[in-house]
Amino acid sequence: QAKALFDYNVFLIGFMGAGKTTIASELERKLEMHRIEMDDMIVKKQGMSISEIFDEYGEIYFRNLESNCLIELQKVKQGIISCGGGVILRPDNADHMKKNGRIVLLTATPETILERVKDSDERPILNNHMNVEFITDLLNQRKDKYRAVADVIVATDGKNTDQICDEIIAKL
Ligand code: S3P
Repeated sequence: QAKALFDYNVFLIGFMGAGKTTIASELERKLEMHRIEMDDMIVKKQGMSISEIFDEYGEIYFRNLESNCLIELQKVKQGIISCGGGVILRPDNADHMKKNGRIVLLTATPETILERVKDSDERPILNNHMNVEFITDLLNQRKDKYRAVADVIVATDGKNTDQICDEIIAKL
């Protein structure tokens, strides 16, 4: 695998469990790009876990932190940025990503998503809703927003990490 060097940021977006974190780590290794995990940035800044932020301050507060994070990331040049699953909920966020990067959407079926997230206790949005019906509903609500901002779309079902990375690199 030759090292591809992008002169822009690569933003990975998609639903929880689509594989953003796994793929970002692999791209970091393969392409020697600087990786940034938006959720980790928020956790570090607040000194609280994502669940604690949701519990104590609520979703809107979390979304504000997420938006601020993207504004801050405008100073990053050639990073691989793994976004939280809800980053497409605000149109301004997409504008901030588009300015200095390309957006890669990772997709997966609700069944695959459930399989990947079912043991997680750090997905407050799915608390008490770890079932395929809820995931399908939320995915349907968000689907068009994900697709509208994506420059590249890669389906992850049944593919391994290597295949997914190669597909992203080929399409970027
Ligand atoms: C969220 C996704 C999470 C995290 C938060 C909200 C969402 O990120 O930002 O729990 O609304 O889809 P991951 O997609 O990395 O799990």
